[in-house]
This record gives sequence, C-alpha cells and structure tokens, in this order.
Amino acid sequence: MTNILVTGGAGYIGSHACKALKAAGYTPVTFDNLYTGWEDAVKFGPFEKGDLLDRARLDEVFAKYKPAAAMHFAALSQVGESMSDPGKYWLNNAYGSLNLIEAAAAAGCGNFVFSSTCATYGEQDNVVLDESSVQLPINAYGASKRAIEDMLSDFSVSHGLNAVIFRYFNVAGADEAAEVGEQHHPETHLIPLILDAISGKRDDLTIFGTDYDTPDGTCIRDYVHVMDLVDAHVLGLKWLEQGKGSRVFNLGTGSGFSVREVMQEAARATGQTVPCTEGPRRAGDCTKLVSGSVRAKDELGWCPDRSTLAQMITDAWRWHQRTPYAK
Ligand code: UFG
Repeated sequence: MTNILVTGGAGYIGSHACKALKAAGYTPVTFDNLYTGWEDAVKFGPFEKGDLLDRARLDEVFAKYKPAAAMHFAALSQVGESMSDPGKYWLNNAYGSLNLIEAAAAAGCGNFVFSSTCATYGEQDNVVLDESSVQLPINAYGASKRAIEDMLSDFSVSHGLNAVIFRYFNVAGADEAAEVGEQHHPETHLIPLILDAISGKRDDLTIFGTDYDTPDGTCIRDYVHVMDLVDAHVLGLKWLEQGKGSRVFNLGTGSGFSVREVMQEAARATGQTVPCTEGPRRAGDCTKLVSGSVRAKDELGWCPDRSTLAQMITDAWRWHQRTPYAK
C-alpha cells in the first residue's frame, strides 16, 4: 500500500480526505497536533501526533513511512481571528508549511497536494473567479495561504517538487455515512452554526452584515460538498503520479448563495425555523466569492455532483444529530 502523509488528518476536511484515500487504496498517515482536530476522527490509517513547527518530528515521520506524497490540510482557518491575531497565522500556517516543505524535500517526497483558499483572491468586483484571477487577499489567513503557494512554486524550481494546489471555496456537508463530520471549537462556520441555532445548541444565528452590495444585502459564497472536495484530492494525487506536474485548481461550483438563502434552505431541509438576529459586518469578509470549476472538471475529470445546498445541509444535519467526537 502507498503511504500518503496527511497533515491535519484529524480535522474536518483532512478526515474526509483520509476516508477517500483509503477507499482509493492508499494508506493515509495522519500528522496532527490536535489543536483543532480530534483523535476520534482518525479512523482510516495510522496517527502520528506532531506539530508542523517541530521539524525533527516531521523528519521522523517522513523516515518512518516514506510517503509517496504529502497532502497538507493542517492550518488555522478563521478569517476573523486572523485579523485580530495575524502573528498566529503567519507562524503556524506560513512557517509551519515551510518546515513541512523542507522536510518533504529533504526526505525526497516530491509530490504535494495543498489546501489553499479562495480567500487568497480577496475582494473582487462581482466576478466569477478563475485560477488566473488576481490574488489580493484582504485578511491574514488568505495572505498566509498565498505565501505558501509562493513557497511551493519556489521549491518546484529549486527541488523539482510538484504541487497540486486547490483553492477551496466554502466547504460544507459531511460524509454521507456520518463516520466523520464537521466539529470545530469554537464553531465559526455558517452552516453548522445555523444547525446549532435550529437544534437549540445556541440561541440564534447572527447575520454578519445586511448592507452588502448583493440582492438581499448579505454575503454570497460558493458552497462545495466536502466529499466532492476530497474526491478532487484523490484525482490531484493521480495527476501527480502520472507526472503531469504542478497545477492550480479552483474548487467551486459556479453558484453563489447568500447567507439568507442558506438559512432558508436549512429551514426547508430540516423542517424547522432558524432563529436569527442581524448584526454588523465581520472584519475580513468579502462581499462575494464564487468560482467556476471548468479547469478541475476538464483536466481532472472532477464531478462535484453532491454539491447542492440541499444535500450539503441534509448531510451536515445527519452528522449534527450524532454523538460528537470526545473532547
Ligand atoms: N456568517 C454569518 N454569521 C455567522 C457565521 C458566518 O453571517 O455566525 C456569514 C459570514 O459573514 C460569511 C458567510 O456566512 O458571509 C460564510 O461564513 P463562514 O465563516 O462559514 O465562511 P467564510 O466564507 O468566512 O470562510 C470560509 C472558511 C475559510 C475559507 C473561506 C473562503 O472558513 O477557511 O471560507 O471564503 F478560506
């Protein structure tokens, strides 16, 4: 079996990627410091606890498993927090990734799949983004991810490292079998917060800003089902195995939904109302982030057929009603 090092494999997207990798015949080796991840979510391969800031620990894990590729999910990812504590993002995301890239290069692991983000694009005038859109992040989270993209491109020149970079739009939903799902502490993402408000785990949902330049005044995002997203990662790995070299792909659906539209769909899918209040804008939020997925579909053969709002909310709701991971 081929080992794949999965940093952040105990987190939301990483744990789903481990499931997809195992189903595709790989052995996912999770490397995670459990700062935001859950040991209970590591179900599909070995677990190595460790921190990206600890280079010696990374070297040890590369030597032990000799992975054919690294899939790099581990990161801090809260836009709001990145505006109040940018140093935390530059240290953990940028410097942590540099350690990982250098450890991979030193171990001769030349294939890299990287989780980047549409937050690297920043505020753009109501356009549907593609991979050639200019990257002008407006928050430290997006800026730290863009810096990692630059690092990978430099190491591809210096060390022949090949990187598939995926710029995610808004990832949502859960594994249909509910073996793994989304659990963050604190939770900051829209769909799980809506489900928390519906189920009474929180009093209500605060809509962050109703004065954006959009049809209903709330922000618009492009939501992608997490299982579709991780399918793209397996396709990206095969792309690298075939020697096709470095490439950037946006993973979006081309359809945008406002905060109010997501709330309406959640009310419909669960048959319940969403208690909500209207609040001010959140620092660092862009008005609209929507991407086409032509390149991923044409070149990787990606088929995001679970990414309807109804299915994402239904799958997230199923997971939400399960016992959460232990603290
Ligand atoms: N929102 C609310 N109330 C909340 C939470 C969110 O109105 O309580 C709004 C936000 O303002 C935003 C939308 O819902 O307009 C989506 O917010 P999320 O926090 O769910 O997602 P973000 O778009 O801020 O960020 C997510 C990921 C990032 C990723 C980014 C790309 O957290 O990692 O998508 O846009 F980079």
